[in-house]
Amino acid sequence: MNDHDIISEVRSKVDIVEVISSYLPLVQKGKNFFGVCPFHDDTNPSMSVSRELQIYRCFSCGASGNVFQFVMDYEHISFREALEMLAKRAGVAITGLHVKSTPSENEPYYEIYELAQKFYQNNLTTKEGRYARDYLKNRQIDDEMIKEFGIGLSLDKADTLVQLLKKKKYDLKTLNLIGLASQDHDTYIKRIMFPLQDLSGKVVGFSGRIYDNSNTNKYLNTKETPIFKKGQLLYHYASCKEEVRQKHFVLVMEGFMDVIRASTTGLRNTVALMGTAMTKEQANLIKRLSNQIVLCFDGDDAGRHATLVNGEQFVQLGLNPRVVALEDDDDPDTYILKYGKERFLGLVENAISFQDYKIKSLKQGVNFNSPVEKAAYINQVLVETSKIKDEIEREIILKNLANECDIGYNTLEKRLLSLLPSEMPTEQRESTFLKEEKKTSHLDKYTFSERAILYYMLKDDKVVYQYEKSGIYFPDHQARYLASEISYYYKKYGIMNIADFYTYLSDKSELVHLLSNVLADELPDVDRSVIQDYFQVIHEYNRNQEIKRLQKMILEEVDPLAKAKLGERIRKLKMGSEENAK
Ligand code: UTP
Ligand code: MN
Repeated sequence: MNDHDIISEVRSKVDIVEVISSYLPLVQKGKNFFGVCPFHDDTNPSMSVSRELQIYRCFSCGASGNVFQFVMDYEHISFREALEMLAKRAGVAITGLHVKSTPSENEPYYEIYELAQKFYQNNLTTKEGRYARDYLKNRQIDDEMIKEFGIGLSLDKADTLVQLLKKKKYDLKTLNLIGLASQDHDTYIKRIMFPLQDLSGKVVGFSGRIYDNSNTNKYLNTKETPIFKKGQLLYHYASCKEEVRQKHFVLVMEGFMDVIRASTTGLRNTVALMGTAMTKEQANLIKRLSNQIVLCFDGDDAGRHATLVNGEQFVQLGLNPRVVALEDDDDPDTYILKYGKERFLGLVENAISFQDYKIKSLKQGVNFNSPVEKAAYINQVLVETSKIKDEIEREIILKNLANECDIGYNTLEKRLLSLLPSEMPTEQRESTFLKEEKKTSHLDKYTFSERAILYYMLKDDKVVYQYEKSGIYFPDHQARYLASEISYYYKKYGIMNIADFYTYLSDKSELVHLLSNVLADELPDVDRSVIQDYFQVIHEYNRNQEIKRLQKMILEEVDPLAKAKLGERIRKLKMGSEENAK
């Protein structure tokens, strides 16, 4: 079998609806399935999945493709990796395949990091690693954890790694560029090395921790490099996906030591921000892992502040995160060491809603003897309560507030009712959704005809033949390009399969986009005469363009005879179009 056949077999043996359903909930509506698009910020079900065509499309952000594209984009992996994953799922052997993962110019950098990672890991087992091993032992990080998290050691020497890599023919400039060397020295000297991986699990950086009382930064992190963008990755992201899927929630923490420690409680559905700041990209990555998020930051002021700020960011993304609030001075790592696994699991199990957390935190520092402060507090609580969807939860909070502040329940309820957003009726919500779906329908008649022809070409090779014979020239050059690809595909494979055609077009994103737009509106089965009319519209367009061109030439022409000839040609063209109009 050739590559095309193998790829096509894998694709046809998995169902796109089932595959996407394993990542996010889909709801059937008519022939198609709908879900919240994971490729942009959204809470509406803008993504439609067609079982018939085996493709998906988001009406809002335009993301579209077949099952390979979905898995590549969702998992941040190459075509080859997506193919392997789906082949496994389909039980298809793909040995002998020629498709390689897209070779990237960063490939050597990954190789270097792999070498560095092995080197650091090995150092920890040598005689020179004795004190570092003692440190880890003291912190109750055992061999299994060292192995699972790839922990290593940089030596107390100026340039051992640099020398090793230079021997392997890597130049100093590259080593500086990717953060492993600083001038002619190793960047990391005498630190415990924690490898940092990108979204696909490749080592792309390190965080090095001091392990004696050196008077320097506790952690030294890789600077921004072509392959290490701190704001676009999360510690433990690649390794937690399967666990998140099984446990149905993701636990977000500050430090990677927290993630490492949490593994001893059996929780591996964890990521760390590596600090308290969370970028938009990171928030979206977390959202993509799961819509059930539990925040568990440090118990200090910074951690509390991070809980409020980052929690709000998830609310903006349409999520309702939950919160584990630790006491002062504790972080998940120290908490687990102090109180044990069961108690930590209990905390996570009983995580409170973010709104609840926020309301509780409003109370801090309020002077209840001051009527002004008390009233301000009550108002803030009511504003937050109005954001809670659950009526019972709202009532509980109101009752507590009434007791706590000694205010009549009815007074509070009246105020709350005035704050509640008036519910949008479902029909209205649905119609905005449908409006988006129909956006493509407001096309001018030429674009519409062009797309209709492409649509019917995809459905019927006779229309392809008709197109080739017609000599029409689509107004849009992408449409011309797509038409020629359609006709080439028919010639090569004899039959059109839309989902396989997506793979065929995959490195031409403009065409993929157009293809999705062409397929967005299902056109009815029609007879030849209707299709002929679409061709006629394009003919007419081509003729008008030609007339315009000739008219311009007439203006520039000085020779009277040539002018007359041009005039005659225009007259004939115009007559032709009137003929057709009759
Ligand atoms: P913490 O200071 O809370 O780390 O910083 P920790 O997990 O408690 O570390 P230990 O227990 O002292 O070893 C949280 C995260 O912030 C980043 C690191 O990624 C750390 O995991 N950080 C912290 C730095 O990058 N540099 C620093 O100097 C400190
Ligand atoms: Mn910490």
